[in-house]
Amino acid sequence: MATHELRQYVQAARNVGLSDAQIIEHLEQFGWTPTLVEAGFNALIEPSLTSMVIDARAIVKTYEGSTNALRGVSLSIEKGTSVAIIGKSGSGKSTLMHIIATLDRPTSGELFIDGTATSHLSQSEIDALRNKKFGFVFQQFFLNGRDTCLDNVTLPLAIMGISRKERTERGMDMLRTLGMEEKAQQKANNLSGGQKQRLCIGRALISHPEVIFADEPTGNLDTENSANIMKILLDLQKERGITLILVTHDPDLAKLCDRTITIKDGLIL
Ligand SMILES: Nc1ncnc2c1ncn2[C@@H]1O[C@H](COP(=O)(O)OP(=O)(O)O)[C@@H](O)[C@H]1O
Ligand SMILES: [Mg+2]
Repeated sequence: MATHELRQYVQAARNVGLSDAQIIEHLEQFGWTPTLVEAGFNALIEPSLTSMVIDARAIVKTYEGSTNALRGVSLSIEKGTSVAIIGKSGSGKSTLMHIIATLDRPTSGELFIDGTATSHLSQSEIDALRNKKFGFVFQQFFLNGRDTCLDNVTLPLAIMGISRKERTERGMDMLRTLGMEEKAQQKANNLSGGQKQRLCIGRALISHPEVIFADEPTGNLDTENSANIMKILLDLQKERGITLILVTHDPDLAKLCDRTITIKDGLIL
């Protein structure tokens, strides 16, 4: 097996949820000696992580007083791609998203972000990493309804301590991109659902994140607005080379992404 074949093999095996131990066992069946496998792993696999913005290994999440929400999930996501995480309600989609987005910590397993293991980072280091690299869009819009659209879309910049002048410039640019320039001084409460979600996409993108996490972003929208929001998300993802991780229970939306990961009862199928 050539180097690139081994790499592809291991990535494919990880993507279907096999643990590294299981992959090594497979390779041994193909006639690789344990020493060669170990050398191969160390020499070939670890460097390949650098193209993986997210690499989750054997993630288990147990909530207190309930069964395991995730029961050993491994997946890696390449930079600049769009990935749909799909599954029925209660299958563990949001739990998985929260963990790979560092909003929550796993009970066991390891999460690498751009090749950096996160388990030993302090909470403030994790928060800094997330603020720098990730943007979020949720089903519930979490807008400040009594604030203007411009203030809502530039909120992350205000938190970062960026001057009002620069915030206004970047905010107006973003509103223009979203076709909402004329709404800048209106209160967010007055927007339609589709416009609210567009504003949320702008807020997620304004800090130039590498990855956008969208958990059921069209869950509160009708079909036409859903299609619009998906188009905006995917167009911006492609134009800007962003990684998009979309959580949805809708197979039609999942089809729009480069890749689909199906989760059932806390395991990747
Ligand atoms: N904060 C929590 N505390 C306890 N159980 C939870 C919590 N969040 C989710 N769960 C449980 O974990 C499982 C997976 O939930 P979730 O990840 O929200 O699924 P999905 O997003 O696919 O609907 C469900 O059984 C759910 O009830
Ligand atoms: Mg959910």
